[in-house]
Amino acid sequence: MTIELGILAAHVPSICHRENVPHFQQEIVAKMDDIAVKITEMKPDAVILVSCHWPSTFHHYVDVSPRHKGILTAFECPDIISDVEYDYPGDQELGDALVLAGKHARLPVIAVNDPTYIWDYGTVVPLRYLVPNADIPVVNLSITMAAGLEETYKWGQEIGKVLNQSDKKYVFVFSGALAHNLVRGRHHMPTVSEQALDNQFIDYIVNQNWELAKEMLPQYANVAGVEGGGRHLAMMLGALEDRYKPTFHTYAQSSGSGNAIMTFELENHLQGTK
Ligand SMILES: [Fe+2]
Repeated sequence: MTIELGILAAHVPSICHRENVPHFQQEIVAKMDDIAVKITEMKPDAVILVSCHWPSTFHHYVDVSPRHKGILTAFECPDIISDVEYDYPGDQELGDALVLAGKHARLPVIAVNDPTYIWDYGTVVPLRYLVPNADIPVVNLSITMAAGLEETYKWGQEIGKVLNQSDKKYVFVFSGALAHNLVRGRHHMPTVSEQALDNQFIDYIVNQNWELAKEMLPQYANVAGVEGGGRHLAMMLGALEDRYKPTFHTYAQSSGSGNAIMTFELENHLQGTK
């Protein structure tokens, strides 16, 4: 098998607790609920997730812990995300395989296996919706600030190779926003210029113009302040390449950020399920 499903997911703090989701983010939650049903039916062997809220400085980290258990209070917003328990199985064998592949590609990749390491909210929040029963092993990844978009793209390619050479089924989640020049006031949309850039990027992806999406990314990331410098998107483009049928589900604002929910399904998988 292979990467069966890719997901561009949102993690805005206001959706952490379902009862607090504002009306303009309800569609995000509804779409992630729908995707969760698909994941349950798919029965993947593991979920791989890269989070824009795990910004490592120099190294690409892979959390290979056999069990991810902790209580998250987000230091960015402890008033909104406080005392959130999580307990997911890990997949050490897969995590170690990713680390080895990274090293072979001469990338600075390091395994993390530390029960005191507490997950970030970019990891916890989408998983609360996408894997609500916490019954699928998770391997989570940092974005690396010393790595530019090209290196992150290459790291995504290496991860994709490992996953696609396996006989197992995987889901790959890319957790982060598009435009991300934040302002106070959760209801604010990105500016019209930022929305135009977001729309163009989404259009390139939906129309499978992967090369143009990749070409656009550096300047787009800079101008629109794309979350994580666009690294989660570079990893997405590298890991999925052009084998997938993208679907755009929804887009919503959060404090001036633009948050798209998209899925990527294998073309032959789609044909097989029609
Ligand atoms: Fe974020």
